[in-house]
Amino acid sequence: MDLLVIDEGTTSTRAMLFGADGLCRGAEQQDIVQHHPGPGLVEHDAEEIWTKSLACARTLIDEKGGAGRLRAIGITNQRETIVFWSRRTGRALAPAIVWQDRRTAEACARLKEEGREPFVQAKTGLLLDPYFSASKIAWALEHWPQLREAGDDLCIGTVESYLVFRLTGGLHVSDATNASRTALMDIASGRWDDDLLDLWGVPRSALPEIVDCAGPLAETLSGHFGQPIAIAGLAGDQQAAAIGQACLRPGDTKGTYGTGAFILTHTGAELRPSRHRLLSTVAWQLGGERRYAIEGSVFVAGSLIQWLRDSLGLLACASESESLARSVPDNGGVYLVPALSGLGAPYWRPDALAAISGLSFSAGHAHIARAALEAMAHQTHDLMTAFAGDGAAWECLKVDGGMIGNDWVAQDLADMLDLAVERPHFVETTALGAAMLAGVGCGLFGSLGEAASMRGAVERFTPALDGDARRARLAGWQDAVERVIRSD
Ligand code: G3P
Repeated sequence: MDLLVIDEGTTSTRAMLFGADGLCRGAEQQDIVQHHPGPGLVEHDAEEIWTKSLACARTLIDEKGGAGRLRAIGITNQRETIVFWSRRTGRALAPAIVWQDRRTAEACARLKEEGREPFVQAKTGLLLDPYFSASKIAWALEHWPQLREAGDDLCIGTVESYLVFRLTGGLHVSDATNASRTALMDIASGRWDDDLLDLWGVPRSALPEIVDCAGPLAETLSGHFGQPIAIAGLAGDQQAAAIGQACLRPGDTKGTYGTGAFILTHTGAELRPSRHRLLSTVAWQLGGERRYAIEGSVFVAGSLIQWLRDSLGLLACASESESLARSVPDNGGVYLVPALSGLGAPYWRPDALAAISGLSFSAGHAHIARAALEAMAHQTHDLMTAFAGDGAAWECLKVDGGMIGNDWVAQDLADMLDLAVERPHFVETTALGAAMLAGVGCGLFGSLGEAASMRGAVERFTPALDGDARRARLAGWQDAVERVIRSD
């Protein structure tokens, strides 16, 4: 019996099939169109997300012997992206506003000036930044009249919530990890909070019920796959990746380098507020009990390489970045601060703009490619410092995500962090984590600890750079970041 995962990410959606041994038996993927209606604006078509996710799942199920072989479904998703739809028809009433969207930067800055951030941080573990869903919902309710006119017909939810609604024909739920990223949930109680709903003017009636990450959560309509299938696992993609990396004990840390880079350190039952501009977030909720994590969110990782390829034409393909980086002995003094959608943790400057500095006639495109890849380790180092300041020093970083197939990036992380970096042979840990949750939810495993047997072999990268070279690079990076922050 297999577990089907729907992994709906920022740039693509896919379906993957896992055996109970953790082996991936197949995958189907389709790209998601990115809409940029103006500077700083990023939208998705929720209808496209639904139809493509369903199509991937159907194709895979048909190819692999039909729905009868399936035990359960796990869903994982890009977080914070917010969808507005009709309770009656299930159809989207407006564009989905994506996590990268900066349209609410001013509204967040105003509230910050009014001194509201400590209240928001204490309640949600988050900060006042356009990244989170609440300000996006407030903006949509103000600017899209059809949402106000919808009255009780309006449903609001993150992407997993929308997919469950469509798969089940009307169940409106959201799991606690995704709900924790809306900035509307009291992170300690796991419930929507009236003060936060008031702050953003969000009607409680439009929000989903907050549920566990695993269990008999729902059943799909039989029409979708020929027979009903249990939906037994739900989690935001970064939490799912942490589970897929078996970050199950306090101190375990993972870094996923996908569209953005997201580092989570598990803190167990302890909800730890950050004093260094990191986030507290729900790691998972099972049986109504929450486990927590500290998170550092970097907005630009793999999307930087895509941008160098597609917008600047500097690379023919993403993998060329590795050979270019290796073709020069060092960065030649070139630094790239990839603030293409502002700066996330630990700076939280939605207004910051990206910059390439240190250019001279001796700099070539290989130096820029190398500076782009080096930015991954530089940004991670900033986070490592903040985590250590919060009493959550890393012993080892478990890495995954599309960019991490690049050996140069994995070694550079080990070198710049001066830390062992562990990469699983199977890097799709987000999908694996969702499969583990579904496995627990349908009773295939008794616990996440048991489900961790699905995780395969790992490869270790150990630091090999001398201290002076490391310190010199970090000083150059710090200087480049300060220029970006100062110039805004
Ligand atoms: O918080 C945003 C994050 O969930 C997006 O993940 O995998 O699409 O980069 P990804």
